[in-house]
Amino acid sequence: MNMSASNKQEKGMHNSAALPQHIAVVMDGNGRWARKRGLPRIAGHKKGVDMVRTMIASCSEKKIPYLTLFAFSSENWRRPEKEVKLLMELFVQAIDSEIKKLHKNNIRFQVIGDKIRFGDKLINQIEQAEALTKNNDGMLLNIAANYGGRWDLVQAAKSLAEDVVSNKVSAEKINEDLFSSYLCLSDCPEPDLFIRTGGEHRISNFLLWQLAYTEFYFTDTLWPGFSTEEFEVALLSFAQRQRRFGKTEEQVEAARHA
Ligand code: IPE
Ligand code: IPE
Ligand code: MG
Repeated sequence: MNMSASNKQEKGMHNSAALPQHIAVVMDGNGRWARKRGLPRIAGHKKGVDMVRTMIASCSEKKIPYLTLFAFSSENWRRPEKEVKLLMELFVQAIDSEIKKLHKNNIRFQVIGDKIRFGDKLINQIEQAEALTKNNDGMLLNIAANYGGRWDLVQAAKSLAEDVVSNKVSAEKINEDLFSSYLCLSDCPEPDLFIRTGGEHRISNFLLWQLAYTEFYFTDTLWPGFSTEEFEVALLSFAQRQRRFGKTEEQVEAARHA
């Protein structure tokens, strides 16, 4: 119960050290993929949805239990109104066309982010999709939409403050574990592997708390071109790393042979 957040992540690794249990992906580069081909940006986003389908299938086949995909950040509202509108429409269409298959494959679908800014139609659809798949015990698929790491921390702080004010929680009891139970991904171990396509080396306000000890994999490949083969390369890179969680190399080696 008093396990620190990093211990929680360390523990999750023991059953299958070579394969990440939770993968978080910043799917970047759709716009540039389209521009290179003289196409409108939305064509890149559409192709991006095809890659999402492939990625989910690969992870599900490999029995990776948790996959979190960054689809729309809290800052993406700053884009031209037309692109935002088309992205929202694409989101509606994608849920519509995919949810039955996800359900059939025993995948639990969940949206993380501030849903309040979405239209009623999309909110309803998300809630229905979440309800339909809520008892599935295969992979948990988190789609981060209108998500921001800072928003997540603030909404957690707010709920925790409310619980302190109403005497549900005493302030002395607040520790890393308790705090993290208020965050969006409280039902998942922290990501083991973070993948960002599109050549940028930044977090862009994705999971700020949860990435504390995550392994990072960056590639210049634009998201619509991120093939299954390249995903295998990312997994191989992950498998070759030694995760030390603050310890020495010798300690980690000794624990492995114990
Ligand atoms: C990522 O691709 C998808 C979203 C942010 C919705 P981009 O649209 O950011 O593509 P680039 O970075 O402009 O190429
Ligand atoms: C991050 O990509 C968000 C998503 C992939 C959904 P951005 O393209 O928005 O990131 P920045 O603006 O280049 O940092
Ligand atoms: Mg981008």
